[in-house]
Amino acid sequence: MGSKDSLKQLVSKEEIANRVEELGKQISKDYEGKDLVLIGILKGAFIFMADLVRHISIPIQMDFVRLSSYGNFMESTGEVRITKDIELNIEGKDVLVVEDIVDTGLTLQYLEDVLNLHKPSSIKICCLIDKKERRQVPVDVDYVGFNIERGFLVGYGIDFEENYRQLPGIFKITPGYEPEGFIPSDK
Ligand code: IMP
Ligand code: MG
Repeated sequence: MGSKDSLKQLVSKEEIANRVEELGKQISKDYEGKDLVLIGILKGAFIFMADLVRHISIPIQMDFVRLSSYGNFMESTGEVRITKDIELNIEGKDVLVVEDIVDTGLTLQYLEDVLNLHKPSSIKICCLIDKKERRQVPVDVDYVGFNIERGFLVGYGIDFEENYRQLPGIFKITPGYEPEGFIPSDK
């Protein structure tokens, strides 16, 4: 893998920057006077979260969770585990979950259920990319960067097998493959 993958840019870094700024301003307005805690989902949301918070002008706190989900790279099964939990007390706080991509919705449905046990006063969701046509469970996303219907996406924090997170834009990837019995020639 790697050099055989083909990538096509769908969203440029300038388009991302503009949209993220708009989202930050909207969030600042909507949560004025509230006790807002942003919870970023690692690793995919780390760049989005870092850019977003710099456009939020009201006081906020931040925390992160790390989730691991089963399934192959194209499809999540909805079996999710928390491998790093939140550290802040969110009881009575307004929580905004920051996610890279909402696809089937299974991951966020699970996380919302778990976070609700901590009795926050509200939970909303902000995602960079919404693939809402693929939803299997009803998860409402309150702030959406971009709606992208299909394709496997990488860049701006989002990976394919841990690669491509550092790309500044959002790309559709067509993974390369090695046919059965392929013997790499050594140079
Ligand atoms: P869901 O549980 O099906 O909503 O899956 C959401 C998770 O699957 C996201 O947090 C991503 O980590 C991953 N995912 C979904 N689509 C893509 C994609 O196009 N590229 C990379 N990861 C994706
Ligand atoms: Mg993810």
